[in-house]
Amino acid sequence: MTGNELRNAYLEFFRSKDHLVLPSYSLIPENDPSLLLIGAGMAPFKPFFTGKMKPLHPRIVTSQKCIRTGDIENVGRTARHHTFFEMLGNFSFGDYFKREAIAWAWEFLTDKRYLNLPADKLWVTIYTDDDEAHGIWLNDIKVPAERIIRMEDNFWEIGTGPCGPCSEIYVDLGEHRGCGSADCKVGCDCDRYLEIWNLVFTQFDRDEAGEYTPLAKKNIDTGAGLERIASVLQNKPSNFETDLLYPLIEYAAKAASVEYGKSDKTDVSLKVVADHGRSMVVMIGDGVLPSNEGRGYVLRRILRRAVRHGRLMGMEKPFLVPLVDVVIGILGAAYPDLAVKRDYIKTIIGLEEERFRLTLSQGMELLGTLIADLQEAGKDVLPGEDAFKLYDTFGFPWELTREILAENGISLEQEGFERAMNEQRERARAARSDNNDNGAM
Ligand code: GLY
Repeated sequence: MTGNELRNAYLEFFRSKDHLVLPSYSLIPENDPSLLLIGAGMAPFKPFFTGKMKPLHPRIVTSQKCIRTGDIENVGRTARHHTFFEMLGNFSFGDYFKREAIAWAWEFLTDKRYLNLPADKLWVTIYTDDDEAHGIWLNDIKVPAERIIRMEDNFWEIGTGPCGPCSEIYVDLGEHRGCGSADCKVGCDCDRYLEIWNLVFTQFDRDEAGEYTPLAKKNIDTGAGLERIASVLQNKPSNFETDLLYPLIEYAAKAASVEYGKSDKTDVSLKVVADHGRSMVVMIGDGVLPSNEGRGYVLRRILRRAVRHGRLMGMEKPFLVPLVDVVIGILGAAYPDLAVKRDYIKTIIGLEEERFRLTLSQGMELLGTLIADLQEAGKDVLPGEDAFKLYDTFGFPWELTREILAENGISLEQEGFERAMNEQRERARAARSDNNDNGAM
């Protein structure tokens, strides 16, 4: 099953269970100051869960574009982390609850008319004291008790708003995919047990003070990773080999004249370019522009990381613009507006890449000298003021400084960096108030 077929099969399955199929919402949240970018299928539906607004139908299903950057440094290093991914979600707004949500998830995953995954390879987790979910998994679905794990951190939330205990489904991909540790089990950070489905029993509303108020109605929020499920169905060692990402790896490998699968270091860079390529195209398509703050900075950081990983593979010339066509080739069927905005997306990416290349060559040269000096002096910490100078004078992103230092076994003296940053803020504030004084005179 291709990624496109899987997305459609999921939407159609839940349409057959009386869900209204809606297109993905934009990555830019509406009326939700707690989020910079949409990072879950449920995020656009918060007012439906709380009862503030009434949905067109009490059951909705979507495949939602999502951006999450909390794990950005893991991208390319694991089989499953991304900054951009698509989240499959079936939602109940005060309609069905645990019994139906669990039964339908299982039916879609294991029934031979749908995904036909082997039931004996699936494990489930539940919130520590969720005896109701335990009973359904054990008695209705017949999952053996030893494959139902109670977990304290099975509680799901994003920003403020609706949240609740959750129940996840994992696939055991086999010992050969594991870390080999004696206590490798569901929840281990390695690639053996892959979480593919999360059912959130949305029963609470969290406010800004961190208080949890029970919601008037019980709801279902689902988060199932399209790329992860595709990797299982397509029997690939990671999401990056699925048809949702591999054409980007092929493009980047060709552009860099390297071969995928030959070196861990190069593979990480190819995967970063592939992942970040999808993110930047979809973000710009949804109206985000590179800038130094907010979601614009998320985009800028992603694009700059892609350029740097290209350079790590020896790509001295710009390479991001042709990648737009490859992304649209993969995602264009699901998100037709991307093709309409193709030229615009290329223009933004081209300008930003060019601008960053200038910054990068100046900053890299200076950072290279700083690293060489430290190594010669047998030191492994870069003074914060030096990193700040790179950031302040050359516009060199400090996250990049930290990453490059880490690759050379050097850490950044964070305190000094923050001190210098605060001093600079103070100076800027003083300069602003001087100007105000002048203006008032
Ligand atoms: N909203 C459920 C999830 O992101 O897993």
